[in-house]
Amino acid sequence: MGRKTLLLLIMGVFMAYYIYIPLPDNIEEPWKLLCLSVCLKTVTDLIMFAELLGMNHFMNIAMFFVNLQEVPPTSDENVTVTETTFNNIPVHVYVPKRKPERLRRVLFYVHGGGWCLGSAALFSYDFLSRQTADRLDAVVISANYRLAPKYHFPNHFEDVYNALKWFLRQDVLDKYGVDPGRIGISGESAGGNLVAAVTQRLIDDPDIKIKLKTQSLIYPALQTLDMDLPSYRECSRFPTLSKSMMVRLWSGYFTEDRSLAKAMLFNQHVPVESRHLFKFVNWSSLLPEKFKKGHFYNSPTYGSSELTKKYPGFLDVRAAPLLADDNKLRSLPLTYVITSQYDVLRDDGIMYVTRLQNAGVPVTHNHIEDGFHAAFSYYGFKIGYRIENQYMNWLSEHL
Ligand SMILES: *[C@@H]1O[C@H](CO)[C@@H](O)[C@H](O)[C@H]1NC(C)=O
Ligand SMILES: *[C@@H]1O[C@H](CO)[C@@H](O)[C@H](O)[C@H]1NC(C)=O
Repeated sequence: MGRKTLLLLIMGVFMAYYIYIPLPDNIEEPWKLLCLSVCLKTVTDLIMFAELLGMNHFMNIAMFFVNLQEVPPTSDENVTVTETTFNNIPVHVYVPKRKPERLRRVLFYVHGGGWCLGSAALFSYDFLSRQTADRLDAVVISANYRLAPKYHFPNHFEDVYNALKWFLRQDVLDKYGVDPGRIGISGESAGGNLVAAVTQRLIDDPDIKIKLKTQSLIYPALQTLDMDLPSYRECSRFPTLSKSMMVRLWSGYFTEDRSLAKAMLFNQHVPVESRHLFKFVNWSSLLPEKFKKGHFYNSPTYGSSELTKKYPGFLDVRAAPLLADDNKLRSLPLTYVITSQYDVLRDDGIMYVTRLQNAGVPVTHNHIEDGFHAAFSYYGFKIGYRIENQYMNWLSEHL
């Protein structure tokens, strides 16, 4: 065998290893997902490499690539799109052009992107907001918020909360011709996290008299306590979100100090003083049998309390809404939760469904058996359109 052949063989094996991900049989359009996965993996690895060389912060480079997908706020034949600020927070507002027959319902939308990427202007969010406004004859508010690594928790939470609070004033609702009895809030991934958190917080705010009618959480991230849930074990390398990336995003919400990410990766970041919180995320009692199959519950390994002293955010209920007690959960509005089978965040969503049901909150759980993380926002997947339709139908009926 010549040297060239050997080299080609080695390269071939390396490429195959790089590209190969064993996908389950029920994944629709597996080639599309494989291509997406290779693109994401290549970009991620290149950026990591650049970062290793000290060229730039990982997220700043990622942000550059993501921002290429932004579109300007442009009205079309059915929907007027404007950019404005609510309490100094930039938002996009989508108002149907047809004449309203009565006061309109409204959806407040919070985008995803791991607390460090994305904006209301991204093509996929803009498209979804237009569709929602048009199909539901609803006003859609799509909020921006400050992002990591420049800003850390609780800035993201506060921006979304302050924009929502500003919107929920009667004079503002009147200005947009909105029915105060039909206000919903939705968000995906990190946006689902923020939605769950602000919805809990609204309940305690004495200044706000208006109640939300619905909350919709689309594959939300809801807790940082246990990074060894069955979904983290099963999907740790599944596209489009690996466990190591999720750990990096979670820790990046609180700090750039990599010691938090490291401790989280080994699930040794919670100190023994906080052991009482584990009951809120105990998958052994909160997951239905089908999702526990083949897994053993390991009691938590406690870490040093240095991390919680420095970064108390990761045990804060405003960052981890699953840590709310039942009394708080009881007052939550009608809830819609989407979870995907092949998603590290699957069990966060499922445990929240169980906890809300136990607290007597009406919940619709839409579990997507062939779903993966962010299936909704990668343009062009059949599964994305299917989930979008189900979500729209639910909103149309319940909001
Ligand atoms: C506007 O609404 C009409 C009627 O429902 C529809 O056929 C058309 O595709 C819509 N246009 C856009 C840009 O969505
Ligand atoms: C979790 O729940 C199981 C029962 O399902 C129980 O045996 C275990 O002690 C619980 N662990 C924690 C830390 O709450």
